[in-house]
This record gives sequence, C-alpha cells and structure tokens, in this order.
Amino acid sequence: MRKLRTGVVGLGRIGWRFHLPEIAKEEGFELAAVADPSNERLAEAKAEYGVQAYADYEAMLKKERLDLVVIASPTMFHTEQTIMAFQYGADVLLEKPMAATLPEADRMIEAMHNHGRKLMVYQPHRTTAAYQAAKSIIDGGLLGPIYMLKKSISRYTRRNDWQAFTKFGGGMLNNYGAHAIDELISLAGPNVKRIDAHLRKIASLGDADDVVKAVLETESGVVLDIDINMAIAAHLPEWVILGERGTAIIEGVDDQQVFKLKYYLPEELKELAVHDGLAAPGREYRNFDEIPWRQEVVRLADFKPIPFYEKCYEHYALNEPPFIPIEQTREVMRVTAECRKEQ
Ligand SMILES: NC(=O)c1ccc[n+]([C@@H]2O[C@H](COP(=O)([O-])OP(=O)(O)OC[C@H]3O[C@@H](n4cnc5c(N)ncnc54)[C@H](O)[C@@H]3O)[C@@H](O)[C@H]2O)c1
Repeated sequence: MRKLRTGVVGLGRIGWRFHLPEIAKEEGFELAAVADPSNERLAEAKAEYGVQAYADYEAMLKKERLDLVVIASPTMFHTEQTIMAFQYGADVLLEKPMAATLPEADRMIEAMHNHGRKLMVYQPHRTTAAYQAAKSIIDGGLLGPIYMLKKSISRYTRRNDWQAFTKFGGGMLNNYGAHAIDELISLAGPNVKRIDAHLRKIASLGDADDVVKAVLETESGVVLDIDINMAIAAHLPEWVILGERGTAIIEGVDDQQVFKLKYYLPEELKELAVHDGLAAPGREYRNFDEIPWRQEVVRLADFKPIPFYEKCYEHYALNEPPFIPIEQTREVMRVTAECRKEQ
C-alpha cells in the first residue's frame, strides 16, 4: 500500500486532537513532520509521535518532500500556506473555513490548477450520523419534495479567543457558517440565488459576529434557514426538514438522538373540495379535513460516521474524486461573502 508522507501545520485544538491521531492510526499515511510556531507544542508532538518538528513551515516543506500537507493553522494563514505547499509539490487537506475571504479562496484554486495539485477542505459535519440521517430522510421521499431546511447551532458563550476577532478571520459566520452552509447546500443542491443575512456581536468579547441569521434560497427554490447563535440561553433544534407532505425534527442528545417524522401518504389523503367563493356555504367555517398522519423515528445510532481519512486516501493516493469537491467549498465561500455584504 502506497503511504502518503504527511505533514501537519498548526497543532491547536483540531490539529492535535483530530488530525495527528487520525493520521497516525491510518495505514495509508506516514506522519512525517509537524510545524507550529510554539516550541512547547513542537516538543509535545516530538514526544508523543516521534516526528520531525519545525517552527518554520517553509523549512518543513523544503526538507521533508511531503505528499500531503494538512493545514490546521488559524484561518488567516490558510491561503499562503496552501499556495506554498503546492509550490513544494505537495497536495493539501485544509481546515475550514477555506480562507478569510473569497478572493483568497480563488487564489488558492488558481494555484491548485497552475501547479496541477489537489485541494480538499475538511468538512467534518458531512461525515456525521446526523447529516447522513438527514440525507436518507430527504432521499427517502416520505416527506415529499423538500421546500425548507433549517439548521441551528445554539448556546450562550462569551468567546474570548482568536475566533472572536475579525483581524484573524474569526466570527461565527466563518467558523460555524462554513459547516452549516456547506451541509445545507450539499443536501438541497446547488446553487444559492438569494441571500438575506443578519450578523451581530452580542456575547463575544471580540469584534466579530457571534449571532448569524441567514436565509438562503437555492435555484430549485428550497429555502435554507440558518441560525448560528452563540448568545441564546436556550437550545434550538439542530435540524428541521420540511417537505410538502411532512416534517422531520431532531430530538434527544448524543447517541439517543433521533429524527421524528410526521407525514402522510398521498394515497391516504381524502379529497377536499375547493370553495372559492367569498361567503362560506352554510356558514360552515371548519373544513373537516383530517390529515392521516403517520409517525416514524429514524435513530442516528443506525448511521455510522464516515471515516474522513479513508476518503482522503481514496482521493490523494488513489486519484478517486474528492469527497468534498473544491467547487462546492468555493460556493460556500461565495455565499459567506454575500452574507457579509448584506450587512
Ligand atoms: N473542522 C472543524 O470542525 C474545526 C474545528 C476547530 C477548528 N477548525 C479550524 O482549524 C483551524 C485551527 O483552529 P483551532 O481551533 O485548532 O486553533 P487553535 O487556536 O486551537 O490553535 C492554533 C494553533 O496554530 C498555531 N499557529 C499560530 N500561528 C501559526 C502559523 N503561522 N503557522 C502554523 N501554526 C500556527 C498555534 O501555535 C496553535 O498551536 C481554523 O481554521 C479553524 O476554523 C476546524
């Protein structure tokens, strides 16, 4: 089996907790080197994984002849580090959000084409049981044609790290919007034609948005309703799927989570005459319509999370199509930029 010589840049929350252990355990990857300006983090990585550790990212690229660079540094460094990896002949797996701005994302895509390299963005929410369950409900058709998808991420938190500051590419539209917009567009189908967005800074200690309300409409007319609210002392349902013949809503916590479906079958619906006059016949104001509701529960525990690094191996080593095509991530970046313009 071909092993991909892999380097990781940025040993923070996601680099340290997710990428390093995943790469170390996957047979098709060789964790060759890491880079981070923090000597403490380099020492930790050396001790735990026995890898080459660099405070200077370019020195890592020059020395290590990597097949793949995983970029998990703060967002403001993504563009330059991605382009530099291409210049040294490596492919890139990049953390979301792809970049702080759309022109930066376009520069990266252009560089990818110019250097003939691969670029994929890590969108972990597409691997989750919740996303797969939502997809199977939509594809299963019980709810009828889907006209609206609602996605919420809600809590009350006084964010005080770099993600709270615009100068570092922070803010919750960039941070969690990169997940929610990607999930909804990939479920509803391309592309977004209308956008209405409201961004606020409420509880955060920085200057970037921590409350995002965005309503998007796709070309096929599906409404995508996104709430990312870090200043709400309540829990909004994470997923609501609205079809012409029923609704699914997520309930419960952790591995007890389920989608509850309420829907009817068209063949069980009784005919209902239309009265289009302005005076109700016989002053009867009820219409006696009884919807023959059916209920069903879809357990998230029945869906296995997709192992992302296996998908990476298929793309980077075996040349299979990307699990997350870069054009889809570019659309997420475009929509994000339009949401910001709405302010
Ligand atoms: N996919 C996800 O679910 C997910 C989750 C968390 C973070 N992220 C993304 O990952 C990236 C990193 O976020 P985090 O929360 O892990 O960060 P973090 O704040 O926990 O850590 C950042 C790390 O990057 C290092 N660093 C600082 N400047 C650097 C530079 N110039 N080059 C290389 N490393 C540098 C810091 O020393 C630190 O170790 C962000 O883009 C973020 O949006 C994605």
